[in-house]
Amino acid sequence: MIWRTKINEITKTRYPLVMAAFARLSSVKFAAAFSNAGGLGIITAMNYDLQDFKSEIIRMQTLTDKPFGINITVVPPGVSGIHDKISQEDYLKYVEIAIDQGINIITTSAFQANFIGKRVQEAGCHWFHKCALIRHALSAEKAGAEAITIIGMESAGFKNPYQHTTLMNLTVAKRLIKPPIIAAGGIGDARGLLGALAMGASAVCLGTAILCTEESPLNQLMKEQWLHTDILTEEYHKALYHFALKGTRVPSPAIAFQKEIVPLKEYVEKLMNEAELIVKSWKIDEQEFRLS
Ligand SMILES: Cc1cc2nc3c(=O)[nH]c(=O)nc-3n(C[C@H](O)[C@H](O)[C@H](O)COP(=O)(O)O)c2cc1C
Repeated sequence: MIWRTKINEITKTRYPLVMAAFARLSSVKFAAAFSNAGGLGIITAMNYDLQDFKSEIIRMQTLTDKPFGINITVVPPGVSGIHDKISQEDYLKYVEIAIDQGINIITTSAFQANFIGKRVQEAGCHWFHKCALIRHALSAEKAGAEAITIIGMESAGFKNPYQHTTLMNLTVAKRLIKPPIIAAGGIGDARGLLGALAMGASAVCLGTAILCTEESPLNQLMKEQWLHTDILTEEYHKALYHFALKGTRVPSPAIAFQKEIVPLKEYVEKLMNEAELIVKSWKIDEQEFRLS
């Protein structure tokens, strides 16, 4: 089946899949594996100093001839992170390196990144922004973001206490904003992917779901622990839905779809084959899955 959505038309990827950004988990091999599997691989820029960032982009270009992008996570004021002392000028140095190296998809996240978006668009590149609240998606649209990822409260990573569920984000944002939406939070199987597309997304962002694959830089012990997560317990629920402006230490419920550590390509192929089978079971005869 050919997958055609507004997002994979912009990104020129085979599938409507975008890799998540991962602080402290740096591996261009992982990002290249995602691109080679048909999604949009993402290099999390802020994991590197400027020199390493440039050399990792160059290395990525030797590992894949498929599209990929970069993420710049802008740390909100007052939130401590690994790069909380960074100025706007510093963030822009990463942007310049990416543009110089021919990267044309630059994603930002976590906090207002209009100053980055402006520069990215001046350079004729695509700017996607990722945020946790629909009201931030509205601001990103106003600032000109070409696509917006909205993260539901089901997600792993950094949480905002005022997040809605992935379902509400998609169905409400679809009515409120024009740019294509990328769904993030709790997605990891074919039904989640198709559900997100049906609710208004043009692609999904995969975080937790891909962290237990072979190429993921998450250490082996953590992968094993994550695979044994029981998402049905009260402890897990409390750890995930903590409603505070801070990161979470547990994987998202998307971990429930992972049973073993497999190569990323195998995971993506299974996901997309299952999605195709489901679409066919709906008796849709089209050979092309096209979303308006
Ligand atoms: C270990 C880990 C680190 C993350 N680091 C970042 C980050 O630095 N910047 C960012 O924008 N999102 C970060 N995220 C969030 C992901 O990019 C993505 O939005 C989220 O994982 C999607 O939800 P899911 O895990 O349910 O797929 C992180 C997520 C995890 C699990």
